Amino acid sequence: MDKKVTVIGAGNVGATAAQRLAEKELCDVVLVDIIEGVPQGKALDLAEAAPIEKHDAHLVGTNAYDASADSDIVIITAGIPRKPGMSRDDLLTTNAGIVKKVTQEVASRSPNATLIIVSNPLDAMCHVAFDASRFPKQRVIGMAGVLDSARFRAFIAMELNVSVENTHAFVLGGHGDTMVPLPRYSSVAGIPITELMPPERIEALVKRTRNGGAEIVSLLKTGSAYYAPASAAVEMAESILKDKKKILPCAACLEGEYGIKGLFIGVPVKLGAGGIEQVIEIKLTSDENAALQKSAAAVQELKSALAKLKY
Ligand code: NAI
Ligand code: 2OP
Repeated sequence: MDKKVTVIGAGNVGATAAQRLAEKELCDVVLVDIIEGVPQGKALDLAEAAPIEKHDAHLVGTNAYDASADSDIVIITAGIPRKPGMSRDDLLTTNAGIVKKVTQEVASRSPNATLIIVSNPLDAMCHVAFDASRFPKQRVIGMAGVLDSARFRAFIAMELNVSVENTHAFVLGGHGDTMVPLPRYSSVAGIPITELMPPERIEALVKRTRNGGAEIVSLLKTGSAYYAPASAAVEMAESILKDKKKILPCAACLEGEYGIKGLFIGVPVKLGAGGIEQVIEIKLTSDENAALQKSAAAVQELKSALAKLKY
């Protein structure tokens, strides 16, 4: 393949992302993890599936970083996931150290790469990767909104018994309890869901979306979601690799857009070969804007906690 994507962390999200990247034949894949044998074993297993899945993506698993050199994209999933009773924010200290270290390793070898951050707490980890890489803000992007919006879309399709392909949804804000699902900008075949469902059903779906990560954690008990998160990260990677210029909700470093400055938070962006090519500012009602500002305040709190940490 003429493109290369490195996935850091060969755990649930990382290995599934590697599988989806290879099976969509988007790029060659380098899978990196600190556990000896795991990235090598998973990459080999995926390579052995290739004749059946009919792709020619080349997969390498490694505990070192040399094979990651000159990647077009690096997807960072390294870190610990949450267990029942834990919030995403409980992961801050451990994951900040991990994300800083792995970002330095990849940034020095792939200075032109775009980073897609997945590790939690997501918005704070974007700040860690941004600082550690010193990359321009267009090339440091957080994955959360695509996942949260996909969850909202899945729940809308279940509620109305329609194809998921007909659904569209936007969830903005931080990747936490304050995330901001936007029913006014969510639709089925172009029809706003506000015309298709009573307000109390919309509110129930919004609540389920906000709790979407915790719902999976409470079922799995030993970790958090990974199929949908991997799909979300790969949709972002595909838009960049193919320069598709999709408009997707992603965590971006805002510099005044939506009245927010110096903070990573989920907003609609255009993703193309240059990474974030545009931040799209949509009109929000005063309630929607208040919810976004509240979410930004929660992210700011985490960013401030991060600044006090030694990691
Ligand atoms: P996992 O535990 O299955 O995999 C994490 C992997 O990272 C492990 O294999 C571990 O060995 C590896 N790792 C740890 N330190 C490392 C280092 N220094 N260098 C290289 N690899 C290292 O966890 P999972 O489920 O894959 O989740 C990964 C992260 O993604 C978690 O922080 C989780 O909370 C987050 N996440 C974020 C989502 C989002 O929407 N942004 C969605 C799903 C997960
Ligand atoms: C999720 O939303 C754990 O952040 C992850 O599933």
